[in-house]
Amino acid sequence: MNNSISIHIDRLYKSFENNGKSELVLNNITFDVHKGEIVSILGQSGCGKSTLLNLIGGFEEKDEGSILFNGKEVTKPSRKSVMLFQNYGLLPWRSVQRNVELGLENSGMSQEEMKEHAFYYIKMVGLDDKAEHFPRQLSGGMQQRVAIARALAIEPELLLMDEPFGALDTFNRYYLQDELLKIQNKSHTTIVLVTHDIDEAIYLSDKIVVMGKNPGSVQREINIDTYKPRDRSGGEFQDYRRMILKEFQLNSSLPPIEFNI
Ligand SMILES: Nc1ncnc2c1ncn2[C@@H]1O[C@H](COP(=O)(O)OP(=O)(O)OP(=O)(O)O)[C@@H](O)[C@H]1O
Ligand SMILES: [Mg+2]
Repeated sequence: MNNSISIHIDRLYKSFENNGKSELVLNNITFDVHKGEIVSILGQSGCGKSTLLNLIGGFEEKDEGSILFNGKEVTKPSRKSVMLFQNYGLLPWRSVQRNVELGLENSGMSQEEMKEHAFYYIKMVGLDDKAEHFPRQLSGGMQQRVAIARALAIEPELLLMDEPFGALDTFNRYYLQDELLKIQNKSHTTIVLVTHDIDEAIYLSDKIVVMGKNPGSVQREINIDTYKPRDRSGGEFQDYRRMILKEFQLNSSLPPIEFNI
């Protein structure tokens, strides 16, 4: 297999048992993620985005098909990948500082290095004055930022993020989107990001996988080849917006245009 491919998903199916009935959640999903790419999975609530990400991370078992990470079938979570869960997954009995240190504990860093490294990311997410607070003492957006800091601090090869900026206000969201791009630009981390925010997907991604629902399926793959950072108010950005709104058959109140991308 082409060794520039990080994740290869081929004819993947997944269903859940609900009240004695089997519900098909993912139907024949096929796509690739190349090394160093940011790929967004974009779709409406309930279309199976989290399920798909959990499968890629090895936290769920598939029914049929295959998911390869670095050419190997995913059967369990890998040390080379980190998952940022939709519900943050913070440990309530640990301070912000100790939550961010969690993923570094078996990394071979000394206590001092670990402290410094974790604090660097805590500072980056703007929580340096909250390092000794516990999760319950933070707002939802702040808790989300701790989870982001913890995931980034591990500096993994593959970062899986489930709506990482969902609880943030616009200012923090834009700021952290830019920070993520800067980090990724330096580290070339492969990122798969779940979102239902069309603008976020366009701003961050090299490729958007648009999912349809009932059952969840890949409706379209859209490559975004423009330079980053992108101009959120620019014409090209608006063209992509229109293209995606059309996929969801939402009226963008703009005149129809032809796409040949
Ligand atoms: N563990 C589970 N057991 C049973 N059904 C599940 C389970 N996890 C997800 N589902 C079902 O699978 C479908 C897809 O759920 P999923 O959480 O993947 O959607 P999503 O696209 O992430 O939605 P959202 O944007 O609201 O987070 C839903 O119908 C949900 O009820
Ligand atoms: Mg979800």
